[in-house]
Amino acid sequence: MRIAVLNGPNLNLLGRREPEIYGRETLADIEAQLRADAEGLGVELDWFQSNHEGALIDAVQSLPGRADGAIINAGALTHSSLGLRDAFLAVKLPFVEVHLSNLFAREQARQHTVLGDLATGFICGFGARGYRLALGALVDRLR
Ligand code: DQA
Repeated sequence: MRIAVLNGPNLNLLGRREPEIYGRETLADIEAQLRADAEGLGVELDWFQSNHEGALIDAVQSLPGRADGAIINAGALTHSSLGLRDAFLAVKLPFVEVHLSNLFAREQARQHTVLGDLATGFICGFGARGYRLALGALVDRLR
């Protein structure tokens, strides 16, 4: 089984970007934890981060045939990108939406997600651990 993990804008700055909100772990730390979990679960992991909406849309379009499911933290694109939503509508691949922070405890603009109703599941507010929760749950669901 192959799982793709997609990370959106500014997530490359994790660790030094508003650590009181997003924690002190870097994206590389999160990737390492997730790769260890994936190995334990016997699944392959494909890891991607981009600050560019089009690159993320390309990544979603390329998923069929390359991944059985996906985990996405789309960063700020979560709240606005109909292009990203359309890409998920087109590929019809099961995915879990993850956010480090609890969106519903934040500004109004962050409380809306353009992906949430398309997702198999949604995890937010558990920091980096959310990625691990998502991987375990998605693999269980796909199996
Ligand atoms: C985020 C929440 C978004 O609102 C924000 O733009 C991010 C990170 C999170 O993981 O909590 O970049 O997706």
